[in-house]
This record gives sequence, structure tokens and C-alpha cells, in this order.
Amino acid sequence: MSQSSILIPFSRAGDLKIQLTEHNHRYYVLDAPQVPDVEYDRLLRELQALEQQFPELKSSDSPTQRIGAPPLEGFGSVSHEIPMLSLDNAFNSDEMREFDRRVHERLKQSSDIEYACEPKLDGLAVSLLYRDGLLVRGATRGDGQKGENITQNVRTIGSIPLRLSGAGYPSVLEVRGEIYMPKAGFDKLNQNQRDKGEKVFVNPRNAAAGSLRQLDSRITATRPLEMCAYSTGWIEGDNSEQALPDTHTSRLQRLADWGFLINAEMAAVPNIEACLDYFDRLGKKRDALGYDIDGIVFKVNSHALQQQLGFVSRAPRWAIAHKFPAQEEITELLDVEFQVGRTGAVTPVARLQAVFVGGVTVSNATLHNRDEIARLGVKLGDSVIVRRAGDVIPQVVSVVLDKRPADAADIIYPLLCPVCESPVETLAGETVARCTGGLICGAQRKEAIKHFASRKALDVDGLGDKLVEQLVDEKLIAAVADLYSLELNQIVALDRMGIKSAENLLQALNVSKNTSLAKFIYALGIREVGEATARSLAKYFGNLPAITAADQESLKKVDDVGPIVAHFIFDFFQQPHNLEAVAGLQEAGVNWPDIEVAEENLPLEGLSYVVTGTFSQIKRADAKVQLQNLGAKVAGSVSAKTHCVIAGPAAGAKLTKAQELGVDIIDEDALLVLLRSHGVSL
Ligand code: IVH
Repeated sequence: MSQSSILIPFSRAGDLKIQLTEHNHRYYVLDAPQVPDVEYDRLLRELQALEQQFPELKSSDSPTQRIGAPPLEGFGSVSHEIPMLSLDNAFNSDEMREFDRRVHERLKQSSDIEYACEPKLDGLAVSLLYRDGLLVRGATRGDGQKGENITQNVRTIGSIPLRLSGAGYPSVLEVRGEIYMPKAGFDKLNQNQRDKGEKVFVNPRNAAAGSLRQLDSRITATRPLEMCAYSTGWIEGDNSEQALPDTHTSRLQRLADWGFLINAEMAAVPNIEACLDYFDRLGKKRDALGYDIDGIVFKVNSHALQQQLGFVSRAPRWAIAHKFPAQEEITELLDVEFQVGRTGAVTPVARLQAVFVGGVTVSNATLHNRDEIARLGVKLGDSVIVRRAGDVIPQVVSVVLDKRPADAADIIYPLLCPVCESPVETLAGETVARCTGGLICGAQRKEAIKHFASRKALDVDGLGDKLVEQLVDEKLIAAVADLYSLELNQIVALDRMGIKSAENLLQALNVSKNTSLAKFIYALGIREVGEATARSLAKYFGNLPAITAADQESLKKVDDVGPIVAHFIFDFFQQPHNLEAVAGLQEAGVNWPDIEVAEENLPLEGLSYVVTGTFSQIKRADAKVQLQNLGAKVAGSVSAKTHCVIAGPAAGAKLTKAQELGVDIIDEDALLVLLRSHGVSL
């Protein structure tokens, strides 16, 4: 090949590398992609083809290197030039103030000390070495002195620059940070694992660790890992003196200029009290972040002061990790009870040795269904790891097999309903076992009444779960319609019930009689008919007789109603006892106005919204319901018909799609403004 004919592929390859590196940085670090994924893939394939044809074009900083390399026999060892330290922990404000006092004392300084605050990411520490701007080595922390060489693996992580951007970096630059798996990526990975019948990961940290320690980096390349830089390590050679400013926060800013992802929540605060405020603020935001954190790291912001303070054994004196209450704890599975829900679903509930986790004492956790018990391989008497994050219900995430006692016993699923002793059956293709007793079953009856009275249904103020249970147990009511024939003396006779509360309850029952068709349908508790479907049914058919008489074909014409839901609705109205219950309620005075009149002028009628990402001020499910209440349709995917996408942090493919299609995008604040402007009180 002549010198001149290779020049064209050379310059095209150079051009592609620049473009791909830029797209990669925009996608993984700035979270602001400029081109659709298909365009990126096209450019990458073009570069791969050129490199295959002209191997001399290959270089270690080529974006093609991110797809992984052939498997290694084992990881080599790396000695850290500067040890990778750990952090001391504080578990409350007093320990934080004590840390600040020690810092003042050592520095002999009485004025406020400025601190840098950063979330403590729950992943794995990594060291990245750059020589003349080129990534030459990636290593785990190991024991702090020696780690494992994971260069091939770190190359596959999109937010790690293969070559530093900008200028002015030291010729030897070690960057340290955390490799972690964002929550959305973790959920997707586990879903894929489940679909393939492979092992699911217990939490994002384990998934990150398992993904990073792959001898086959092509597997790492498929895992959604990110790396966030939080410090520098070894620095030498050109620019080593002047490249980095004095404060930690401005140093990290410099790392961002060179292409690294740094944490968006990072802040400098003037003193320890402001650190405590930051801790509270981030604690409230914790569940809405797109990644797991287990605390906040506070660092004396001035590097000069950091150097004066130095280290003790394995931790610096200038930093501390203020930990949140643990979200995972180990405890013992004492027993499993089976609860029967409104639709007869029999759910195994773990009775646990009480344990403090996620800020509350937990003694019960759902085990979901038979498949979940099999997946966990859990037995009675096992030590289990329980996780409670935010307001999510506690979960048993895994079993500590090392601690299994010799007499651990299998969990036996009941053949008969524990409440009414009707047979329990599991239909083909379903994972849920159900009691076949229907409304004969006291548990199903109680749940049906609770649902009927709940806020989104007929909203009977003051009729809580405990009261429903008492009313059923005392045989004062057996079905929903009986609520409306309750008398004052019957209610007053109940435990802890005063005359005033009893009068209020009767009054609330009276008020609840005036409802809407949509709420009434929802209140009936038909399987799979949630608020949105009930609203669609009411809107489509306009009146109850039309719904009760509809066949499955006409039901399927309604928004959100597929064949399965159509079958449930049809089936419900075929059952004489359900029709009797409906008639009984109407006789008792339950009524609603003509639907068309009420729904015609809804402000967001005809507009389609998509809600994606995480929100901090409103639950995503509530946002959807509020939009639907205003007449909007809330869809699960973005299309050209979408009117607007509401995107919180950690929004992924849906946001990208909206950007591609030029659909309007608003954030959570704008959503709240929109809802409030239509009179929604939040
Ligand atoms: S600074 C000498 N900053 O926490 C300072 N560490 O318990 C060392 N970590 O091994 C670390 N987020 O893996 C620092 N923003 C952050 C961090 C962070 C997570 C991890 C890190 C370290 C461990 C110490």
C-alpha cells in the first residue's frame, strides 16, 4: 500500500476517534447526548472496519477498545505508589462535631473550617493511572497497598476517559474514584438475568463488583457501570506543581475539565453545621438519586490544610464518612405466614427477628410468591439479609448459607386457605397461588371492604383497616353494602369507639354515597382494574348498565384494557353475587352524576404524557394519577404522538427518544407548576 493511499483511512480514523470520544463524553459524563445511539453505533462500526483493515490504526485510546478484550488467565497485581486509604465513620451529629473539633485542635485554628461534601457512593474504589494523558492502568484498591490490575475492564466503562481532554494535566496523573452501577441499569441487568434464567444480583454494589472482576472484559463491557472521580493520587512530572488548585472542590472541577464524571451534588460549605444541613438535605434526596449512597463524605477543602493534618494508620485525619442508617441488615427468619389479599392471592410473609434497618425496626418482610422462595433458596431458621430502602417495603434479599442451622426446615405452601380453608390453586402460567373461596373467605371480604372505603375509592373518612376488621369479626358487616345499614349503637359498642367518632363515621358513610362512576368501578375491586382503567371504562361506556352488559370484544376497545383485563371485568359482572352487591349499594343510596358532563372540560383532555426518571417531590405513580385526573393520557413509551415528556434525573432511553423526536421535555418542578396551575394541591 502506498504512503498516500493509507493517508485517507488514517485521517478518517482520526476524525472518527475524535467524534466518537466526544459523543461518548456527552453521553456518559455530561448526560447530554447529541446523536441517537444508532448513529454512534454506525460511526463505531466504521472505525472498527478501518482498524481491521489497517491494524496499524489501532491504539489504546481508540473508542473501539471499549468493547472488551479476550479473557485473561488471572488479574496481575499492582502496587499503589501512594496507599489507597479508607475513611473513618461518624454515625451521628455528635461524632461529626467531635471530628470538627479534632481538626480545629490539630490545626490550632479557631475560625470556621471549610468542608467539601460529596455523596459516599456505594461501589468499589478504583485507581486510574494516566501517562501523558493516556490511560495506562486501572487497579482495584485491594488491601490499600496492592490491588488487582483491571485495566482491560476499566477501559470498557464509558465515563472513564481513555485519553484526557483539554490540556495542562500532569504527565503522571493518578485519579481515584468509585465504580458503581446506577439503579436503573441494575434493574435492567437483573431483568435480563431473570429473562435468561440466570442468577440475579442482590444489590447494585454486588452487581458492580461482579461485573468489574470479570476476567473476560467483554462481559464487563455489557454491564452498565459508571465511575465518578473523587480524588487524585500519585502526581509527577510536567505540570505536577501548577496543574491542581488548592481546594478539593476546584481540583475535582479540574478533573471534570479533563473528561471525568464528578458528582453533581458536590458542594463546599463554610463549617460543620452546614455539613450537618447538607447531610439532612441529601438524606431526604437519597431515594430519588439515580445511584445508591451509604453516607456523605466530608473533606477539609484546603489541600494545604489536608497536608498539615496528615493520616493515622489507614485513614486521613482530614476526612470522615457520615453514614446513613444501614439499608441492609442480617437477621433470622423465625416463621413464614400466609396472608390472603383482596383477590385471594396468598402471599408468604416472613416473620423476622426484629432488626433496625433503613431507619426503622423491621419484623416482617414480604417473600412475594413461591418462585421468590425458590430463587432465594430460603428455609425456616435461616439467617437472611433484609433490605429496606426509603419507603419501599422491606425485602429479604439473600440467605447467609454459612449460618444455616442444621435444623433449618423447608417452607411449605398451604394447600388450603389459612383463613377459610377453601382449596388454594395456582393457575397454569401464574406464579401467584390463590384462595378459591371468593367472598366466602373472610380475608378476601375484609380486604374488599378496606379497598372499597379507601381514599381513591369511596373515600370513607375514618374507616381504617382496623375498624373494618373489627366490624367483620363482630359480624356487623359481611359485604360492602352492609356498611350503609350500620347503626350508631352498633358502632359505639366497638372497642375504643366514642360517640363522636361513631357519629363522624356515619356522617362520612353518608358523604361517601355521592361519588363518581369511575370511583365506584374502581371501588368494586375488579382484578387488574386500577384507577386509570376505571376512569377509561367510565368515560367509554358513560353509565354502569352499559359496562355490566359489555362483552369482552367491546371491553377490549377501551384504553388500557387488553384481553386479560377484559376477561376479568366480564367475569366479574357474570357473577350473581357481584351484581347483587352492586344493586345493594345503589339501593343504599350510592349514586354518581352523569359522566359526560363531569369529564368534558378536563384541561389536559387529548394530551399524551410520558413520565420517566426519578422524582424527589412527588411519587411517579402520583404524578401519573394527577395527570390522568386532569384528563391526560399517560403512556409508557415515547412516540411522535407524545405531547410532553416529564423527565427526572436518571431518565434514560425515553428521554433520548424524546430529544430525537423533538417532543417537549419538562422537569419535575415544571410538572408541579403545571399541576398546581390546574388547582391540584400537593
Ligand atoms: S474519599 C482518603 N470520597 O468509601 C480518602 N471515598 O470507606 C479516601 N467512597 O474506599 C476516599 N464515595 O471507595 C471518598 N466521595 C467519596 C467516596 C468514597 C465512596 C468509598 C471509597 C473508599 C470508601 C471508604
